[in-house]
Amino acid sequence: MNQKEILEFAKEAEISEEESRQYFLKEEALEIEEQKALKPLFDWLVLPAVELGAGMGDFTEELLQKYIKITGKLYAVERLDTTAARLKERFKDLRLEVLQSDSTSLPLPDGSAGLVISRMALHDFVSADGDVAKALADCIRVLAPGGVFVVYDKIKDGFADVETQSAEGRMERMNVQLAAIEGKVCWGLHLLEHYIALLGKLGLKDIRSSGLDVPDTPGYAGIMSKTLKERRPAYVKRWGPEAGKLIDSVLEDFAKIPPKALPRMIVWGLKQ
Ligand SMILES: C[S@@+](CC[C@H](N)C(=O)[O-])C[C@H]1O[C@@H](n2cnc3c(N)ncnc32)[C@H](O)[C@@H]1O
Repeated sequence: MNQKEILEFAKEAEISEEESRQYFLKEEALEIEEQKALKPLFDWLVLPAVELGAGMGDFTEELLQKYIKITGKLYAVERLDTTAARLKERFKDLRLEVLQSDSTSLPLPDGSAGLVISRMALHDFVSADGDVAKALADCIRVLAPGGVFVVYDKIKDGFADVETQSAEGRMERMNVQLAAIEGKVCWGLHLLEHYIALLGKLGLKDIRSSGLDVPDTPGYAGIMSKTLKERRPAYVKRWGPEAGKLIDSVLEDFAKIPPKALPRMIVWGLKQ
């Protein structure tokens, strides 16, 4: 645990140093649980791995540091060109190749990957019709027989109304609403059973799952409010004045919603 990070987070979240330390301890415990669940999926991997929806590359970095062997290969797939360009700048690892591509048409041959994985990406998947199974069919095509398809994501299990009971749930709803402004469908938060059904629909067998408890982030609403206020002009520029109104309503809601974190799950299945 890094004392500088503890102090910086205490300041940002407006909490005591001790509260910040306790939060970091819980986060460390979560990382250990995460590693215990993911490591066995990579142990036998000989073919390349594919990461879907790499975003800014935080999970890409973890994959390279903890799971991809020295002789291994990782393709990081990202739909947005600006984000893919940043990923290319961020990493100088010879094992990594960034592919600017939508999941619906991957520039990889049939059966060429041993594992396809996404973290915190499927709930954010944007498509014209919201049919996630259709958006992922090409990812199954690139998997070799016996290959593993892994989804690691937030879920809404345990909440009767996730939007009013979790500030994180409200944030995720905002992403769905933003996509709707541009006439698209963002998949949004789902239950574990929906992910299991999705993997079944993709034709995967031997589907298993492992749940992870996530500690609540102290000061979550305050930190996210600052971020949203900073991003407001950019959102209005991209989505128009409706996005500004949406951000204002989220900021109002944050004052009323508890800072409950969403649980996470890892679900995986085999291609036959
Ligand atoms: C929340 S971010 C991912 C965070 C990242 N995986 C991590 O764990 O740090 C989701 C990313 O998925 C990308 N994405 C959404 N739909 C996609 C699609 N159909 N194909 C590929 N990438 C997609 C988005 O552009 C975004 O960068």
